[in-house]
Amino acid sequence: EKGTYPHYMLKEIDEQPAVMRNIITAYQGDSGKIELDQDIREAVKNADRLYIIACGTSFHAGLVGKQLLEGIAKVPTEVHIASEFSYNMPLLSEKPLFIFISQSGETADSRSVLVQVKKLGYPTITLTNVQGSTLSREADHTLLLHAGPEIAVASTKAYTAQIAVLTLLAVDVATTKDLHHDFDVIHELSLVAQAMEVLVDQKELMEHLAHNYFETVRNAFYIGRGIDYYVCMEAALKLKEISYIQAEGFAGGELKHGTIALIEEGTPVIAIATQSHVNGSIRSNLKEVAARGANTCIISMESTAEDDDQIILPEVHEYLTPLVAAVPVQLLAYYAALQRDCDVDKPRNLAKSVTVE
Ligand code: M6R
Repeated sequence: EKGTYPHYMLKEIDEQPAVMRNIITAYQGDSGKIELDQDIREAVKNADRLYIIACGTSFHAGLVGKQLLEGIAKVPTEVHIASEFSYNMPLLSEKPLFIFISQSGETADSRSVLVQVKKLGYPTITLTNVQGSTLSREADHTLLLHAGPEIAVASTKAYTAQIAVLTLLAVDVATTKDLHHDFDVIHELSLVAQAMEVLVDQKELMEHLAHNYFETVRNAFYIGRGIDYYVCMEAALKLKEISYIQAEGFAGGELKHGTIALIEEGTPVIAIATQSHVNGSIRSNLKEVAARGANTCIISMESTAEDDDQIILPEVHEYLTPLVAAVPVQLLAYYAALQRDCDVDKPRNLAKSVTVE
């Protein structure tokens, strides 16, 4: 039920701090530490490479997951769009482990890959929000998202839940492999929940910014580098699917290789700049487009913020910034869609789960 909320999407955005806390509780063992299923641990330990398979928003969560699994757990990880993998299977490693990410657990493109790799005898894990869903039943193991039902077509809390569960997996694998790390995952995810609370309370600011940047435009760009680039892809998908503004997420450094030709007077370009090592370069990309008339906006962290930055995110661990950057971009898409009289929860031509290939 959406209660007093005008739309499920807004309710689901607001639920994200609680979802982070649910995930911690759900995976906390008697020792108070995060404990994943022994079989899942073994499966990851025995693999020489992880293959993440997903579509849409879940694919974008997988891209962030790759950074976590390689950065924290040092496991080589590839991320593939299910429909591409299905028809163009890449060369596989000797001991692959397949991880399917699907909110619904019913996506046909992902299932088609699951069926193929099972035939080849490879081990599989499904990360899903729906216990008993097809992908959960057919995979060897399931990791649940604990996000509660997601009704709006535009995925919000499932995206952040997927990243949070992938974080737990990465840290758990690092611990079992005796890798040295100082990542106190319960503490870090609690900080994320607090930061999300601050951000969901900034609705007036987001409504105002949506009006400023998106009210009448036909296209928009999100730019970022590294992990921020992946969040840009998700930010653009959110904006296009509910507000029908043609939006793209770009790697900051790629702009000058072609896309900058599209910048005109008033084109919105929003930079996500959460990583200190690329802060300078992404800011200079933004200046390049501003000089060509773009209407620029920057989303930065408290530690790297400059005086006139439009959105400043509370500090969290550098690997977890996608979890907090997601909130304002979801709200920007929500208000842009609202201001343009779009059907926020049920955008045209889309279904909540895509059960045909
Ligand atoms: O249920 P799934 O996670 O497998 O769905 C995958 C995509 O269809 C889904 O994320 C879609 O891109 C959303 N509408 C995005 O908001």
